[in-house]
Amino acid sequence: MPLVDLFTFTRAELTEPVRFCDGRWVVSAYDDVRAILADPVTYLPDNALTAVTPVAPAALRSLVRARFSLPPTLANNGSESHAGLRRLVASFFTPVRVAAAEPRIRELVLERLGGTDLVRDLAWDLPAIVLMELLGLENVDIPTLKRWSTGSLEFFWGNISTERQLELVDDVGDFHQWLIKRYHARDGELFHALADAGVSAEDSAGLCYFLLIAGQETTTQLLSTALRRALQDRDLWARLPDRDVAESFVEDVLRTETPVVTWRRLTAREVVLSGTRIPQGAELVLLLSGKESDPKHLAFGYGRHFCLGAGLARLEAAVTLQTVAAHEPSLHLLDDTPEWLNLLSFRAPKSVAVSR
Ligand code: HEM
Repeated sequence: MPLVDLFTFTRAELTEPVRFCDGRWVVSAYDDVRAILADPVTYLPDNALTAVTPVAPAALRSLVRARFSLPPTLANNGSESHAGLRRLVASFFTPVRVAAAEPRIRELVLERLGGTDLVRDLAWDLPAIVLMELLGLENVDIPTLKRWSTGSLEFFWGNISTERQLELVDDVGDFHQWLIKRYHARDGELFHALADAGVSAEDSAGLCYFLLIAGQETTTQLLSTALRRALQDRDLWARLPDRDVAESFVEDVLRTETPVVTWRRLTAREVVLSGTRIPQGAELVLLLSGKESDPKHLAFGYGRHFCLGAGLARLEAAVTLQTVAAHEPSLHLLDDTPEWLNLLSFRAPKSVAVSR
């Protein structure tokens, strides 16, 4: 059986429903993936945020010095505290609050028209600004937040050398310390809500570390992939100003080329998946990008940990595509071979170069 590279594989390379690869089990059949996500007792979420490349001792020492920790809070929490924390965070992303953000999203897109790289000039900071506003976090330096969050993604999900870990580890630690400080200062609505609910500084920082990354890096990636793909199809580009077309195109991108290409679970006991026996304590890598023929997509997961930002991500993507296509009907894609972000769980083009 040929090896697949966990950081670059395509769906077509996964010829079996379950494939053992570099110590991990890649599960790609829709029914298996859905059943796994639906059963958090047999398939624990505990490894959701575990570093894919083991943290080297020198980098670990820096993390310890920075008192960095990621206790179980949301995505990595299989315990009883999950429901309450999830409710608290969900209150910031109710359908009403998300819908109310639409004019602001459109305004941000309009301010960002005219650039020559749609990632750098549009997709990069827009989701971060929207997220900070929804969470009531003011005076956040967005370029610093982006450096911390892209660095953290690479640190935890990348196939990286010890040297690279050491280059990134200060950003990981600084980000966490900034969160601890904001918690103690009750600086912003989110931190008020956490402190009022009696959530400790450590748990709050761990929760926010994940939320402030997951809540915007993924959307930057979705916008990047969607803009690139839309510009490859002139007929589609002409129809995208129609909101229904934009929304169904976003679903299509999520189904077949979602940014969060995989998500992980840990087996609590021995299991059999599509005829393959998998031991207790095994790391499963679930393929979330699907086939056209799958009944529904799993881009936002399923069940107890279903993404809390699905509505927001969909809205940001639809409004962005609709607005750019309406104002720039003759926009053209330039360079067809951009550098790609290739992490275990995140994939997207790093640039979308255009001319007009
Ligand atoms: C295209 C954008 C996004 C994608 C593809 C995505 C995908 C995912 C996936 C696959 C999960 C794990 C689901 C599971 O284990 O069943 C997840 C969880 C989560 N996502 Fe997203 N996400 C996106 C955007 C967002 C945004 C904008 C937010 C901010 C509100 C967000 C917040 C969360 C949270 C808080 C969780 C953990 C929920 C829990 O454990 O209860 N995500 N997301």
